[in-house]
Amino acid sequence: MPLVESPAWVALQAHYEQIRGLHMRELFAEDPDRFPRLTARLGDILFDYSKNRVTDKTLELLFDLARQCDVEGWRERMFRGEPINHTEHRPVLHTALRNMDGTPCLVDGKDVTAEIRRERERMFDLAHRIRSCTWLGATGEPITDVVNIGVGGSHLGPEMVTQALRPYATRKLRLHFLNNIDENHICNTLEGLRPETTLFIVASKSFTTQDTMLNAESAREWLMQCLAGEDSLRHHLIAVTANPEAAVAFGIDPQHVFRMWDWVGGRYSLWSSIGLPIVIAIGPEHFMHLLEGAWLADRHFREAPLERNIPVLMALIGIWYINFFGARSIAILPYDQNLHRLPAYLQQADMESNGKSCDREGREVDYHTGPVLFGEIGIAGQHAFYQLLHQGTAMVPADLLVPARNFRCIARHHRALMANALAQAEALMRGRTEEEAIEEMRAEGLDEERIRELLPYRVFPGNRPTNTFLFHTLDPKTLGSLIALYEHKIFVQGVIWNINSFDQWGVELGKKLASNILEELNEGVPVQSHDSSTNGLINYYLELRQRQVERA
Ligand code: F6P
Repeated sequence: MPLVESPAWVALQAHYEQIRGLHMRELFAEDPDRFPRLTARLGDILFDYSKNRVTDKTLELLFDLARQCDVEGWRERMFRGEPINHTEHRPVLHTALRNMDGTPCLVDGKDVTAEIRRERERMFDLAHRIRSCTWLGATGEPITDVVNIGVGGSHLGPEMVTQALRPYATRKLRLHFLNNIDENHICNTLEGLRPETTLFIVASKSFTTQDTMLNAESAREWLMQCLAGEDSLRHHLIAVTANPEAAVAFGIDPQHVFRMWDWVGGRYSLWSSIGLPIVIAIGPEHFMHLLEGAWLADRHFREAPLERNIPVLMALIGIWYINFFGARSIAILPYDQNLHRLPAYLQQADMESNGKSCDREGREVDYHTGPVLFGEIGIAGQHAFYQLLHQGTAMVPADLLVPARNFRCIARHHRALMANALAQAEALMRGRTEEEAIEEMRAEGLDEERIRELLPYRVFPGNRPTNTFLFHTLDPKTLGSLIALYEHKIFVQGVIWNINSFDQWGVELGKKLASNILEELNEGVPVQSHDSSTNGLINYYLELRQRQVERA
């Protein structure tokens, strides 16, 4: 039966018509226990979902939808390693990478836990040698700079986590992340670095990604300019990949190739050897805490009843807005400077997973799937795009992530930060009525004519939904849990939309066309083989390039 005609969906549609006009102010006024009832905990992470346009009935119907779509069954299939990534015939087992209780994890009937542990130990050993300056460059100097070359899942997770956990990182090493083929990026990154003391990690699950391979080749050339002999490269090049043969063919010592597996999706891979930059930065012990946090979230997701299950709640509330209120975007608003790459990280996690329009049976869906995710550090966003969140025509549900304590313990700063986070969520929910606006303007001493003039602009509709995650500190364990909660939210939404969240065929076409166009650009002859816009742009580029050659 098509999803939109299914009993749970139809019931939700009817319920939406009944409550779409209901204001959250009324819901809070009616129920003094709304906060304790609509909050859930995982360790010291408090998930407040009370500022949402949901009643008990809404939640009941959303849980019906989850059950109708067999979220619990799919969840088991994922954890058990069934090939739920059906278009690539692969299991989805990033959870195995952080399994802390040693329960066997079968892939094609083979327990992979020992293999995971072995690879993790190798990674820890390497990180230890770099951190303790016993890994030496070709000229005998210790490593001072580590450059991770990778893109997408081989970049965003390690970058986001190392930034988020800065207070836990060694000060003896500098980490750099290189993901763009624009030569500005490699030139800026290498500025001030010395080949003798620089180590490159070429991180690519496929080891074929053009961007990464091009940067890796340029890095190798840069090394070779200073270091004599191919052999010296082995001290400066490491690979992390599921395609070790390609890494070895590239010239990386087989001993320095770290494995990942095809049952770990790129955007879910920071828990694997792809996390090497994280381990180098924060050390094995903190990395284990990160894994432990994720594992706690996995257990919660697998064991908690749907009604108390945070990723399930996150997913269902998202679906409520996307599919019934027509929301098309979601804002991620961390109130912690160190989480400044979280929105970019979640953008790939969510949009590459659920930006699909073909269901599991190959049919085009007739309902909305993954939203546009965007975000920014809360305070910065407040002075940039929150205007639209408060008074724009679009409803943009938002997640606020707020630590109760920062690391430097400058209470003055942190209290101001807290006050802002709490105030924004309150303002988005409450809004400001006409009466309140008039009263305020009178208190400001404005005359009645000016009040009438300004009134429409100073009213806020409110009723704008937010979830708030409030936690003690952004430590490795908490971060691990938060990331895993989002991963599972994405999974649940994919199940309900009946799409495969673990492939990414949509990235293929652009890559293919880019390689065709690159050949044409290399030939340098004007083209007529594309549409007039693409032809025109290529030919104008060639003209500009020619002009530059003539000028030089
Ligand atoms: O082009 C998208 C993508 O395939 C992502 O899914 C992936 O995370 C990224 O490219 C990098 O891929 P790889 O790790 O194979 O270089």
